[in-house]
Amino acid sequence: MFDVQKFRKDFPILSREVRGRPLAYLDNAATTQKPRSVIRSVSRFYQKCNANIHRGIHSLSEEATLAYEKARKKTAQFIGADDAREIIFVRNTTEAINLVAFSWGKRFFKDGDAVVLTEMEHHANIIPWLILSQEKHLNIKYARIDSQGYLDLNHLWGLLDAHPSLLSLTHVSNVLGTINPLGQIIKRAHEKGVLVLVDAAQSVGHLGFNVKKYRADFLAFSGHKMLGPTGIGVLWAKREHLEKMMPFLGGGGMIDEVYWQRFTPNRCPEKFEAGTPNIAGAVGLGAAIDYLDFVGLERIYKYEEELTSYALQKLTRLDGLKIIGPENSVDRGALISFSLAGIHPHDLATILDEQGIAIRSGHHCAMPLHQKLGIPASARASFCFYNTKKEIDRLIEGIRKARQLLDR
Ligand SMILES: Cc1ncc(COP(=O)(O)O)c(C=O)c1O
Repeated sequence: MFDVQKFRKDFPILSREVRGRPLAYLDNAATTQKPRSVIRSVSRFYQKCNANIHRGIHSLSEEATLAYEKARKKTAQFIGADDAREIIFVRNTTEAINLVAFSWGKRFFKDGDAVVLTEMEHHANIIPWLILSQEKHLNIKYARIDSQGYLDLNHLWGLLDAHPSLLSLTHVSNVLGTINPLGQIIKRAHEKGVLVLVDAAQSVGHLGFNVKKYRADFLAFSGHKMLGPTGIGVLWAKREHLEKMMPFLGGGGMIDEVYWQRFTPNRCPEKFEAGTPNIAGAVGLGAAIDYLDFVGLERIYKYEEELTSYALQKLTRLDGLKIIGPENSVDRGALISFSLAGIHPHDLATILDEQGIAIRSGHHCAMPLHQKLGIPASARASFCFYNTKKEIDRLIEGIRKARQLLDR
């Protein structure tokens, strides 16, 4: 039995009210809430050992450095990386993908090279390549999705047959919820000599991601979507790739030696961490990983799948409601986007907010995907293991109420 009430007590924000009603937070794909242990670890860092890292020899600086590097080791263990030096702390998934585009792509892509993305990518995995393309004239191709929201693997295989320079794709779609079969995809890409970047923003805190199992070349994720603080994220890459990449930002911390006219870069990971990093954020991410380990990723996936399945069953019974993405909860992350005939998602979200229910509405930073689906926006309910079936019942009731108010 998954004791959701026990875990809920660890998240102070879940006991607050919104507009006089208990909060039902169903916007976890945007950012998750934080357990007390994460909040405390950040606060404790500032109260007890705040100092800059890697620079001072005084005790506080040493303690801060230890705490920061401990978080790096924990992060490496969490994704199954043997070498903690392969963990680069960045601000978020977006920055991690930009880092690869500008440190790897700028150096190694040739004019006209192909980069394969998919039609289900978040803007974070489209725009960096489009920006780079202004300089490199990349041939950006998109693997199609089918009518159910799954990747069209035959189309993808065809794109890989043309030996692009990189395949960059999401593990779990933040709109469709689709879980992509990465094992199969990465194997096929590597057979064709294609490097693979995985955007694990929506998966790492729910299904986990093991770099040994999947053998991707680059992995990007955000701390704030896995119970950690905002402003801390991770790029993992194989050491052999990191060694070849140029620094992304220049400044303190990332150098070995500096002269008036030249510099030599530091080793990895410092080479990519210019300036003072988000030390407290990394410490908080370490605490988030401890908490996820405490709950257990397997249990998290199982319970979230149960919630998603429950929500899918209830939502599909509502007249005029169209689910976007796979109908099967096993092939989905813990999120469901939908449209409601005759009601704009923003209006729905506003009415739900009046009942203390937080969902997302809009294009969820996936405009081209919404254009393909032929809708300007959608509503999205996304779950975390601290959500309950009762909250889903409230969502269903809230949607009924919105329809009574807005349906003409
Ligand atoms: C699939 C996916 N990729 C990338 C991102 C960007 O994450 P961040 O804003 O933390 O950089 C998101 C955020 O919603 C996402 O869902």
